[in-house]
This record gives sequence, C-alpha cells and structure tokens, in this order.
Amino acid sequence: MAVKLVTVPEAHAAKVYSTERVGISKATHDAHLALWQGYARKTNEIRTKLPEMDIDPATANQIYSEMRALKVNYAFAYGGYINHNVYFETIGGEGGPATGAVGDLINEAYGNFDHWLNDWKATGMAGRGWVFLGYDHDEERVHTYIGDSQDTFPAWNHTLLLAMDVYEHAYFLDFKTARLKYIEAYVQVIDWDAVNARLPK
Ligand SMILES: [Fe+2]
Repeated sequence: MAVKLVTVPEAHAAKVYSTERVGISKATHDAHLALWQGYARKTNEIRTKLPEMDIDPATANQIYSEMRALKVNYAFAYGGYINHNVYFETIGGEGGPATGAVGDLINEAYGNFDHWLNDWKATGMAGRGWVFLGYDHDEERVHTYIGDSQDTFPAWNHTLLLAMDVYEHAYFLDFKTARLKYIEAYVQVIDWDAVNARLPK
C-alpha cells in the first residue's frame, strides 16, 4: 500500500512577506512556517504508521489505544496542515472589498461586503483558533465559521475558501494580545484573487 505524503514549501512565497506593510512581520511568518511544517511532518508520520499497525478491533479503545491516538491526532495534524495551506495561500494581497465570484457570493449571503467584514472580524474575536469562509456545495452559498481547533471543521461538503489564523502565535510577536489590531491588519492583506482561485469551477 503506497503512502501518500504531504509537503510544505521550504520558504514562503515572496507575497506573504508583503504583509509587513500592515505590521504582520517576517519574524512572525518565519516562526509560523516552522509550525506549518510540523503539521505536515506529523501528518506524514501518522500516515506512515497506520499501514504498519497491527489492527485489532478487539483492543482498539475509546479511552486510550494506539488506534485512538493515531486517528484523533491525524485529524489534528492534517487539519492543521490544510488550514495553514489556505492561510498562507490567501495572504499577501491588497485586501479591499472581495472581488469576482466570491465577492458576489459574499454580497448574496451577507447583503454587502462591509456587513460580511464586520461579521468576519467579530467571528475572529469569538473564535479560539480559526475563522473559515466556506463554500457550501449543497446550498451554493458561503458561510463564515469558527474553528476552535485544528480539527474542528465546520460542516460537510464545503470548500474552504479563506482561513484566518487567530491563534496567538499568528500575532503575539507583532500585536501582543491586541487580537483585533491583528485582524484589522489581516483583512488589509487578503489576496482575493487567490480566494477566487479556490472556488470550484
Ligand atoms: Fe498557525
């Protein structure tokens, strides 16, 4: 059975560092890259271990078992990998009102961009780890969600369009505990072209 491994770039794309203009520093991004790589490494470690495991349903256990440890932490590791993929893919743009089809979807679901933006910022203050903009394939509509942890995905049958990291490691170096200042900076550097590119054709 061939194990499929995931990868993370060795260095950030240059556009990621353009966020220095709003105060999200290179030092923050470089430290954050190491964390992102950690999620990829642990994803690969678990993917490699699972096929080698001696699987016995009689000893798998919900309190503690190797199967539980691997499966629970797999969702955390792979979730963290994907969340950070989207975070770094969609940062380093010009911000401003959402453009293209995503702009239309936001207007349809939230009335106008400013209303969505207010919702996004408030959701960012209310979340513990992540704020997600997801495209719901069932309703053909976008929704903003809280993801309290790496493995708390909002709902099935969504495409993740935008992911804002609100863990302290994403901003403490630059903004100390002033999370709202970080969020105000972050929304000025969303790359809406990259967000639109994630929308299913
Ligand atoms: Fe992070």
